[in-house]
Amino acid sequence: MEIGADYYPEHWDRKDWEVNAKLMEEGGFKLVRMAEFAWSRMEPKEGRYEFGWLDDAIRGLERRKIRVILGTPTAAPPPWLVTKYPETLAVDARGIRRIPGGRRHYCFNSPVYRELSRKIVTALAAHYATHPAVIGWQTDNEIGGPVCWCENCARAFRKWLEERYNTLENLNRSWGTVFWGQEYSDWDEIPLPHGDGQSPSPRLDHARFHSHSVLTYHEIQTKVLKQACPRHFVTHNMMGFYDEVDYFELGKSLDLVAWDNYPGNKWGQGKVASAAADYMRSIKHSPFMVMEQRSGLTGWLEFLNSGDAPGQLRLWTYQAVAHGADKIVYFRWRTSRFGGEQYWHGILDHHGVPGRRYAELKRVGREFAVLGERLDGAAYVSSAGVLLHSDSRWAADIQKGHPKLSFLGHAANFTKAFSFFHAGLEYYQPSDDFSHCPILIAPTLFLVDEAMAAKLTDYVQRGGTLVLTFRSGVKDAANVVVNERLPGLLRHLSGCEVEEYDCLVAGESVQVETSAPLPRKPFQASLWCDQLTLTGARAIARYRSGPFKGSPAATMHHYGKGTVIYVGFNGEQAFYNALAKWLLAKNKALSPFAPSETVEITERVKDKDRFIFILNHSGSAQKLRMPPRCHYRDLLTGQKASRSTTLSPYDVKILGPVETA
Ligand code: GAL
Ligand code: ZN
Repeated sequence: MEIGADYYPEHWDRKDWEVNAKLMEEGGFKLVRMAEFAWSRMEPKEGRYEFGWLDDAIRGLERRKIRVILGTPTAAPPPWLVTKYPETLAVDARGIRRIPGGRRHYCFNSPVYRELSRKIVTALAAHYATHPAVIGWQTDNEIGGPVCWCENCARAFRKWLEERYNTLENLNRSWGTVFWGQEYSDWDEIPLPHGDGQSPSPRLDHARFHSHSVLTYHEIQTKVLKQACPRHFVTHNMMGFYDEVDYFELGKSLDLVAWDNYPGNKWGQGKVASAAADYMRSIKHSPFMVMEQRSGLTGWLEFLNSGDAPGQLRLWTYQAVAHGADKIVYFRWRTSRFGGEQYWHGILDHHGVPGRRYAELKRVGREFAVLGERLDGAAYVSSAGVLLHSDSRWAADIQKGHPKLSFLGHAANFTKAFSFFHAGLEYYQPSDDFSHCPILIAPTLFLVDEAMAAKLTDYVQRGGTLVLTFRSGVKDAANVVVNERLPGLLRHLSGCEVEEYDCLVAGESVQVETSAPLPRKPFQASLWCDQLTLTGARAIARYRSGPFKGSPAATMHHYGKGTVIYVGFNGEQAFYNALAKWLLAKNKALSPFAPSETVEITERVKDKDRFIFILNHSGSAQKLRMPPRCHYRDLLTGQKASRSTTLSPYDVKILGPVETA
């Protein structure tokens, strides 16, 4: 367990470097991530590399036993580069080239940019491959955008399509280009799609292609780093649920996942951070690190957001740890006096005098030292899985159905419910092995192919519990609607079919009533409702009002040794809570702790050690009663935990069992 800081020595006078390093050491900071935007300093002229300044900065840190993660600087090309090679700048959908001056304005398919990136990464890697203070690399920075409409990208898109569809006939048929008479007679006629009036099929392929472009660009860097620096790890700072690159694919080229975490001040927003942390851990199904953790008041060029209350920085740190992080690096060490992020606050303010935030994180550093290596690498305990299929997410978000529906918003109904019962979740992509997972939630499985249907069938047959929702099995791989009743290739599993569906626009809602095995209770539904016909399943909810009054709204189907739940509507949160409670109870996985909206509880395990994280996300004190017959020790204080304790606002406890009778 270690804390660290994102540090930009190039932003400070050399005389400050020693002060910074000393404060870091005193604060318990063991790691520094640096240099990810310093291309103009590393290569001030094409082919002239200058790493001396970086060597000096690292030396000062090394003296204080602070280790370094180096960023490759490609997220921000230097002005000489974009001036000399303007074709490296991305072009927007209207054909206008990006204006340089900020960052992330390069085109992933520019052969020149790819080559210049390879060169700087090669030079940097060669220089630091055996440096004793350097332990790993961060590639680029928050890779993913921009989407580019330049000629290089158009050519690359056509080539990608040709590899995927082989013949134009096949592409025309798969996309259904006969609609509005858009059949192609030459590959060169195919434009890069840009929303307006365009068919969802090329748009989905464009999303896939963009992700592919990012991944192939990124691979140039990982190849160089892995070859030149076999002793170092290679990671990348991902952005939680960001979707312009398939993170499961990106993860394959990394040794570990890193995450940039900027939680909102309110716990409602904070729940997103918990879900995102689970997703980040799930990319490699392994503990991860936080590369940028919020360390103060945030704000962009013009406006500020509200600041963190005392205790929240510590709370958010443990929130990430509670979900599987082992190293937390804070963004940033000291707030910049210049440039585009003067309002984005670091651990130290602009003046550099340590204050409340530094003290708070220093405390975390001390606590991490107490936890030591015991917690490092501990596995996260989950009770259920969530299927996150990138194709389904892209396709469903291209055609949301209701403006307020989104793939993630719908999924959040489930993740919030499991979190309410302190039940951990692990995310899976369809190609993962999820056979061991007793409950699998598959929200909006919009796009289903035969292989996925077969895998899910096998999963249920062997005893799994699968939860399907409305808008499942709607599309084939080309993003064309299936030629059968919904949920298409999943019909045999659901044991129900969609008779009709309706989008409840203008804020309408309808009432559904659940029945056994769920408690009999009324709930509101909005945004979407499927009218279901039973073809083997039984109804576990019916509409009590609206156009489908009397019809099944949710079903349960026993199939093989398993069970399939189909939820045909978007319900209020209480409905998902009731469903989650039933699912967890059925699998004997209900947490012994009382459910809570504000106190989050998670668990990690390693060998015989169990670590139970109790996080009070509210600004008021919360009572916590220990479950009957469970006895815990507070792992931070070493003291026995009393049967009932009060958590002060934003406080955290880490408990380990002493004995369980
Ligand atoms: C991150 C980015 C950092 C910094 C930070 C604060 O997304 O990686 O470089 O910009 O946001 O704005
Ligand atoms: Zn381009």
